[in-house]
Amino acid sequence: MTYAVDMANISKSYGEIKALDDVSFALGSNEVVGLLGDNGAGKSTLIKILAGVTRADVGTMRINGQSINPRKHTVTRARKLGIETVFQDKSLGEKQPLWSNFFVGRHLTNRWGFIDVAAEMRVTREILGNILGLQASNLRPETIAGTLSGGERQGVAIGRAMHFNSRIVVLDEPTTALSLREVDNVLSFVRHIKREGKACVYISHNINQVHAVADRFVIVDKGKIALDLPKDGTTLEELIKVMIRIADGEVPTRPGGHP
Ligand SMILES: Nc1ncnc2c1ncn2[C@@H]1O[C@H](COP(=O)(O)OP(=O)(O)O)[C@@H](O)[C@H]1O
Ligand SMILES: [Mg+2]
Repeated sequence: MTYAVDMANISKSYGEIKALDDVSFALGSNEVVGLLGDNGAGKSTLIKILAGVTRADVGTMRINGQSINPRKHTVTRARKLGIETVFQDKSLGEKQPLWSNFFVGRHLTNRWGFIDVAAEMRVTREILGNILGLQASNLRPETIAGTLSGGERQGVAIGRAMHFNSRIVVLDEPTTALSLREVDNVLSFVRHIKREGKACVYISHNINQVHAVADRFVIVDKGKIALDLPKDGTTLEELIKVMIRIADGEVPTRPGGHP
């Protein structure tokens, strides 16, 4: 298998808290991995390191075959390497209008090399018009991101991921604040990513949703990979059972890595 992401022996502490302890995680180039685990397990920390938001203390990382120092990785580099992330918290620049949020780090320029604001506004209007079936009539390119509701934020961030056609899409609890119809659209989006030959990390508390879209399940527990299971041969009931056993501390943790 070729890997979109190959992280090995990643550790990250916040003071006394070991958010990640020698974690290895790989994502196939056309694979959807469901990342599961209790609150505080370390899921968001792992994908923030991948997205360049948080620096790892130690470990190695390859993205689309390119070796990256996870202690020096940046958001800009992650974007250049085709990673689009919808974060659980604050995906959008709070004080900026939606149009500049969409194009930050990859502005459209006119023939003189200046940012083409009119073009960015126009594209933003198009994206807002047809993402996720959001009831977003009050959303305009000029709307300040900080005024959006949780669901609107997630919708806009996902719309951005769809528009830029990224090779690796990371969704961290994308459906928490969404209506049923919007959830359906997010799940369709994940299936679309898969059909397009791309890769996705899907983090959710909702085991049903994860089971429905993922090719493989990776369960994080107290900063370690507890289990790595293919979808093939794993029913929803089994997945729920094994998660309960892990929550009860019954399954020994072991480092993850390649499927
Ligand atoms: N910026 C931070 N400062 C201090 N502790 C943090 C920070 N981010 C995460 N943590 C801690 O690291 C652990 C893992 O958190 P997180 O990765 O957000 O878990 P999850 O996304 O699985 O709920 C938790 O104990 C959390 O409190
Ligand atoms: Mg989280």
